[in-house]
Amino acid sequence: MAKRITDRVTWVGKIDWELKHFHGEELSTHRGSSYNAYLVRDEKVALIDTVWRPYDREFVSRLKEEIDLHAIDYVIMNHNEVDHSGALVELLREIPDVPIYCTAKGEAILRGQYHADWNFVRVRTGDTLCLGATTLTFIEAPMLHWPDTMFTYMSGDNILFSNDGFGQHYASESLYNDCVDHEEMMYEALKYYVNILNPFSPMVMRKVKEILGMGLKIDMICPSHGVVWKEHPEQIVEKYLQWADAYQENQVTIVYDTMWQSTRLMGEAIAEGIHEVSPTTTVKLMNAGKEDKNDILTEVFRSRALLLGSPTINNGYGYGVAGLLEMIRGLKFKKKHAAAFGSYGWSGEAVKQLSERLEQAGFAMLNEGLRMAWVPDDASLQQCRDYGRNIAQALNA
Ligand code: FEO
Repeated sequence: MAKRITDRVTWVGKIDWELKHFHGEELSTHRGSSYNAYLVRDEKVALIDTVWRPYDREFVSRLKEEIDLHAIDYVIMNHNEVDHSGALVELLREIPDVPIYCTAKGEAILRGQYHADWNFVRVRTGDTLCLGATTLTFIEAPMLHWPDTMFTYMSGDNILFSNDGFGQHYASESLYNDCVDHEEMMYEALKYYVNILNPFSPMVMRKVKEILGMGLKIDMICPSHGVVWKEHPEQIVEKYLQWADAYQENQVTIVYDTMWQSTRLMGEAIAEGIHEVSPTTTVKLMNAGKEDKNDILTEVFRSRALLLGSPTINNGYGYGVAGLLEMIRGLKFKKKHAAAFGSYGWSGEAVKQLSERLEQAGFAMLNEGLRMAWVPDDASLQQCRDYGRNIAQALNA
């Protein structure tokens, strides 16, 4: 159902309560998501973004309840990944000549995905589209998080339509940030940043500073996923400036695979050692085979250091940490420390290999790692505690 935001702006998107994974299986979405599209009605009418393809007919049908489709003068595509452009094919069956405003990269992506010769209008930063009393201004935002991305600013109502930027995978009937559980929504905003935007943090920092430098009055930020930032929209802008600046809290996250519990025992003893030296440091232990990978990555993002453990299996390391390492490599964490640990029976290559992968991923290695044969006895567990103490002292130095 459409939801009125201002006299001129109406939300016409789709809440996806069922969504549990996004980007295939790459990103878990425990709390669902939404695909936000917005109808702007002035003397001229603009539709900003659409929804994911499985909901295309529902989207067009509901849009028709809100407006005669032929009254739509412009479609603005801030970003053309299928979760926002998927309903274009169905929509343009009805209004095939409607101009589609997007960046040059956006046009290329739409052509590449849909192979249609639509009425594209390329825009660049600073280009404007007058709707009557209000004007849309386009701001290119490449790599936030695709090369085609742009933001659209609406004067008069002072709304920034930011597409993926400032979004959250968070389904809610409540449209606004002040009407939902703040803590869980902020967790989803953080998880979204970590798993989607973190590799592009330098671009995020530059773009946010550029927009702040434009001196625009921003009363609301309307992203393409999750709730609208109506109450203190600057709070998420401030968070982005923090998150984009090699963010970390006083936390160490210990992530491990374990086959017969020896590596788990090592991890727990290391955690005890860290806590003995640094009781105010949050230490989290996460079994890579049991915990959600994107939640683990969110904890890594929060941390000063990642301690990664695995037993040696088939002359290498476990499947759980292997998958995580590939995601960690891609997410380009900055200014974090790391160390490896793990048990082994005979060959024992895992710790050295984990250390190499972590270093290749940009982590500052705290030591050469700790490996132990078979099941750790009391003396070995004490050695693990000492290892944890040394790590805490190194982090506090
Ligand atoms: Fe929400 Fe990059 O699509």
